Amino acid sequence: MKRWFLYAIIPFAIATTVVVGSRFIRVSSTETPSATKQVARCAVCHQKQTEAFLTTPHANTLRSANDTEARSRFAGEVVRVGELSTEFRYTDRDGRLLLSGQRLNTELPVDWFFGSGRHAQTPVSVKLNKHGETESLEHHVTWYANHGLDLTIDHPQSAGIRTGDAGNGHRPDAAIRCFGCHTTELPLHGKRIDFEGVLPGVLCSKCHPGADKHARSMELGNTTSRINKWSELTPKLSVAKCAECHRMPFQVSADELSPMNPGLTRFASVGLLMTRCFNDQETRRDQNDQPMRFDCMTCHDPHRPTAPTPESVNQICRSCHQQRTKDQSDCPKQPLQSNCTECHMPKVKLDSPIHFTDHWIRVRR
Ligand code: HEC
Ligand code: HEC
Ligand code: HEC
Ligand code: HEC
Ligand code: HEC
Ligand code: HEC
Ligand code: HEC
Repeated sequence: MKRWFLYAIIPFAIATTVVVGSRFIRVSSTETPSATKQVARCAVCHQKQTEAFLTTPHANTLRSANDTEARSRFAGEVVRVGELSTEFRYTDRDGRLLLSGQRLNTELPVDWFFGSGRHAQTPVSVKLNKHGETESLEHHVTWYANHGLDLTIDHPQSAGIRTGDAGNGHRPDAAIRCFGCHTTELPLHGKRIDFEGVLPGVLCSKCHPGADKHARSMELGNTTSRINKWSELTPKLSVAKCAECHRMPFQVSADELSPMNPGLTRFASVGLLMTRCFNDQETRRDQNDQPMRFDCMTCHDPHRPTAPTPESVNQICRSCHQQRTKDQSDCPKQPLQSNCTECHMPKVKLDSPIHFTDHWIRVRR
C-alpha cells in the first residue's frame, strides 16, 4: 500500500507498459519494437544523448537467448557450485543453449539472460503454468565479469542438491516484476507475457515517459516539446524515480536498513537517501549563492556507458566540503587532495564475486 502511495506523489512515473488485461502495447502493431529503432529516432534531434547510449548497461540489461556474446559465456562450460559442488553443464545444441545437471532429469532451454554482463549475467528459463500464466526460473549459475561462472548471488549454498532443482522459481507476479525492471515494454495478456512484443533494456522511453508521442509531435514540426523534464524535479523526486528500480529505503526491512549491512550496497538509491550529504544539501551553496544540487546525475550520466572515476567524484565531494577560506577540507583526518571515495564511498565485496559501491556516504567506524 505504502509503495503505491509513494508512487502517486511522483509527478511522472517511469513509463510502465505493464498492462494488466488483454491490451497490447507496441510501437506499432505490425513492427517489432527494437532498441536500435527507438534510439535512431531520437538521434535525429538528440545527438548527445544517443551517440553512446546503446552501449550502456541499461540498454543491454536483458538479452535474448540468441545473444552470441552471452551464449559464449555458458556454452560448453561445466561448473560446480555451492557447498556440495553440484555440477551444472551448458550445451549449445541445434541453436539452443541447454542446461543439464547431476540431478536434473531433463535438459532445460535458456530463454533470456538477465544483466548486461558489466557485472554479471544470469540465464532465465520461462514456461507457462496450467493457467497459461508466465513463470520463470532464475538459474543457480551466473557468469561474473571478474570471475566466470559461479553460484548466483543470494542463492542457497544447497543449490541443486534436490532432484530437479535447477534454480529459483518465480511465480507469475514475481516473474513479471523481474522482466518489468529490465524491459521498456512488456505486453501482457493477463499474467502471460507476450514475448513477441517485449522491448528489452531500460531505454529512452522508460525514463522519459511519453517520448514516442513527443517524437511524433516534434517530427510533425511542433516547437514545444510537452515532455516532462527531469531537471524540474526536486532532488528527492529525481532519486525516487531512479529508485523505482534501484529501490527505496522502505522496500528493505528495518534490520536490513543499517550501515553495517553490506548487502544494502546493492541498492545505490537506498544508500544515497540515507546520507546526510543528500538530506542536508540545502545547507550548501555554490559561489553564486545558488543551492548545490545533489542527486544521481551529479555523478552519473544516464546516457553514457562511462562510470564515474574517483577523481571526478572527489571533485564533487570537495565542491561541498572545502572550507573556502582556509582551502582545507571538512575532513579532520585528510587534506583536500586526498581520495575521499576510498574511505567514505568504498567498494564493498558481498558473499559472491561481485562488488558494489557504498552510496551511504558517512564516517565509517
Ligand atoms: C524532430 C526532433 C525531435 C525528435 C525526433 C525527438 N525530440 Fe526530444 N526534443 C526536441 C526538441 C526541439 C526539444 C526541446 C523543446 C523544449 O525544450 O521545449 C526536445 C526535448 C526533449 C526532452 C526534454 C529536454 C529537457 O529540457 O529536459 C526530452 C527528455 C526528449 N526531448 C527526449 C526525446 C526522446 C527520448 C526522443 C526519442 C523517442 C526524442 N526526444 C525525439 C526534438 C526532438
Ligand atoms: C526501469 C528500471 C531502472 C530505472 C528506472 C533506472 N535503472 Fe539504473 N539500472 C537498472 C538495471 C536493471 C541495471 C543493471 C544494468 C546491468 O545489467 O548491468 C541498472 C544499472 C545502473 C547503473 C550501473 C551501470 C554500471 O556502469 O554498472 C547505474 C549507474 C544506474 N543504473 C543509474 C541509474 C540512474 C541514475 C537512474 C535514474 C536516472 C536509473 N538508473 C534508473 C534499472 C533501472
Ligand atoms: C525493482 C526492480 C528490479 C527487479 C524486480 C529485478 N531487478 Fe534485476 N536489477 C535491478 C537493478 C536496479 C539492477 C542493478 C543494480 C544491481 O546490480 O542490483 C539489477 C541487476 C540485475 C542483474 C545484474 C547483476 C548485477 O548485480 O549487476 C541481474 C542478473 C538481475 N538484475 C536479475 C534479475 C532477476 C532474475 C530478477 C527477478 C528475480 C530481477 N533482476 C528483478 C532491478 C530489478
Ligand atoms: C536511466 C534513465 C534514462 C534513460 C534510459 C535515458 N535518459 Fe535522458 N535523461 C535522464 C535524466 C535523469 C535526465 C536529466 C539529466 C540531468 O539532470 O543532468 C535526462 C535528460 C535528457 C535530455 C535533456 C537534456 C539534458 O541532458 O538535460 C534529453 C534530450 C534526453 N534525456 C534524451 C534521452 C534519449 C534520446 C535517450 C535514449 C537514447 C535517453 N534520454 C535515455 C534519464 C534517462
Ligand atoms: C557522489 C557520487 C555518486 C552519486 C551521487 C551516485 N553514485 Fe552511483 N556510483 C558512484 C561511483 C564512484 C561508482 C563506482 C563506479 C565504478 O568504479 O565502476 C558508482 C556505481 C554505481 C552503480 C554500479 C554498481 C556499484 O555499486 O558499483 C550503480 C547501480 C549506481 N552507482 C547507481 C546510482 C544511483 C541509482 C544513484 C542515485 C541514487 C547514484 N548511483 C548516485 C558514484 C555516485
Ligand atoms: C551537495 C553537497 C555535498 C556533497 C556533494 C557531498 N557532501 Fe558530504 N555532507 C554534506 C552535508 C551538508 C553534510 C552534513 C554535515 C555538514 O553540514 O557538514 C555532509 C556530511 C558528510 C560526512 C559526515 C556524515 C556522517 O553522517 O558521518 C561525510 C563523511 C561526508 N559528508 C563526506 C562526503 C564525501 C566523501 C563526499 C563525496 C563522495 C561528499 N560528502 C559529498 C554535503 C555534501
Ligand atoms: C584515509 C581515510 C579518509 C580519507 C581519504 C578521507 N577521510 Fe574524511 N574522515 C575520515 C575519518 C576516519 C573521519 C572521522 C574523523 C573523526 O571523527 O575524528 C572522517 C570524517 C570526515 C567528515 C566528517 C567531519 C565531521 O565534522 O563529522 C567529512 C565531512 C569528511 N571526512 C570528508 C572527507 C572528504 C571531503 C574527503 C576527501 C577530500 C575525505 N573526507 C577523505 C577518513 C578519511
